[in-house]
Amino acid sequence: MLKIKINKGGIPLKGKINISGAKNAALPLMVASLLTDEPIALDNAPALADVRTMSNLLGILGVSVDCSGSSMKLTAKDICSTTAAYDLVKKMRASVLVLGPLLARAGQAKVSLPGGCAIGVRPINLHIRGLQTLGAEIDLQDGYITAKAPNGLKGGAINFDVPTVTGTENIMMAAVLAKGITTIVNAACEPEVVDLAKCLNSMGARIHGQGTQKITIEGVDKLHGTKHKIIYDRIETGTYAIAAAITRGEIELIGEGLGALMLGTADVFEQAGISIKKTELGLMVSADKLYPVSVSTEPFPGFPTDLQAQIMALMCVTKGTSVVTENIWENRFLHVPELCRMGADITLKGTKAVIKGVRKLQGAPVMATDLRASFGLVLAGLAADGTTVIDRTYHLVRGYENAVGKLQACGADIEEFLSNKSPYEEKLQRSFA
Ligand code: EPZ
Repeated sequence: MLKIKINKGGIPLKGKINISGAKNAALPLMVASLLTDEPIALDNAPALADVRTMSNLLGILGVSVDCSGSSMKLTAKDICSTTAAYDLVKKMRASVLVLGPLLARAGQAKVSLPGGCAIGVRPINLHIRGLQTLGAEIDLQDGYITAKAPNGLKGGAINFDVPTVTGTENIMMAAVLAKGITTIVNAACEPEVVDLAKCLNSMGARIHGQGTQKITIEGVDKLHGTKHKIIYDRIETGTYAIAAAITRGEIELIGEGLGALMLGTADVFEQAGISIKKTELGLMVSADKLYPVSVSTEPFPGFPTDLQAQIMALMCVTKGTSVVTENIWENRFLHVPELCRMGADITLKGTKAVIKGVRKLQGAPVMATDLRASFGLVLAGLAADGTTVIDRTYHLVRGYENAVGKLQACGADIEEFLSNKSPYEEKLQRSFA
């Protein structure tokens, strides 16, 4: 079992961190390769477990994926399968993104229902309803979505009950080759959606309004290849900004356009006392005095749910009472009991977590439950007195490239290792810790 050990917390982190390409932009961009028989070249691709999982899935569908450093070339000359099996989809929910492009390119798709995950039920009813509006015949049986559009898709008017990021991306990629015009009202406005639309337009698509709540897509007959640089990861940026703040260090986060990507996050960080200054290469982040905040997670440009665990860790050691409200996912407080094992004072009241800052957290053995919670525990360990061992950090490598290396380079006394104890032995060890 992969583990991370912070031998000694409380070390102010100082140095530079290169921000990687955004996981949640890279995944849909890779899937866009299904929409053309010409090569798609992606630069600034992050080296992540989820990117490797997506490469495997696309390979099964017939996409040739060539990687060299942070560049990827994906070519779907022919689609040799239109089935995304459960064993891959259950590893990564974003696999559901192949549904729209397979329907658009091949007129059919069979994709396993992704099921829920630690943070919630994760429904995809809006994806399905949107594709039906574009003329797809959809059947749900034996845990699979079977979709057909033998005569191709046709444009339609879609109005999402709630803004869904991958739902917007799925429909956008289905609509680019549909006959006629598609409108998506209450579309997601995340930068990753905008980056996908920019790439699709460079392939010959006609998408307008991306980044607003109304997107219009004029279907075209064919798309061609392109070369596209993936935007930087705003969640990684916010995560390491909090690493600088929680250790009272100073880190330069390096990457293009990080300031703009922090829209919705920067004002909360400022309220918390985090100083963010633009530099030639990116952002310089530090914090002297921290202040309690009341923050609610919202769709972009609100405060991102993917930074909720991280800001909570910071508030655990911020004098005063903070309130974090999680409005997106119904079960995204799994890091709370683990933070309390480290001495945090957190009370849960429905969608709200009330945090009373303590002077110091104590290192302890804790367990990661999902991708962003993992880093919330790392941040707490970096600030805590003593040693913290975080179990099940295979979650973390799904979405953060070389996290331990990046933190070590800023002076953190942190390492990762494989433990040969069985999960039973680990559970036993934890319960007596
Ligand atoms: C994307 O997930 C991100 N993943 C998530 O990041 C992120 O937490 C989420 O957007 C919200 O910002 C990727 O982009 C790969 P949604 P997604 O559809 O698209 C409801 C991470 O840590 N909904 O925008 O699955 C849903 O229940 C991951 O990197 C429906 O009701 O999220 C939720 O309340 C975790 N029906 C809200 O919409 C649907 O058909 C937003 O979900 C779809 C969604």
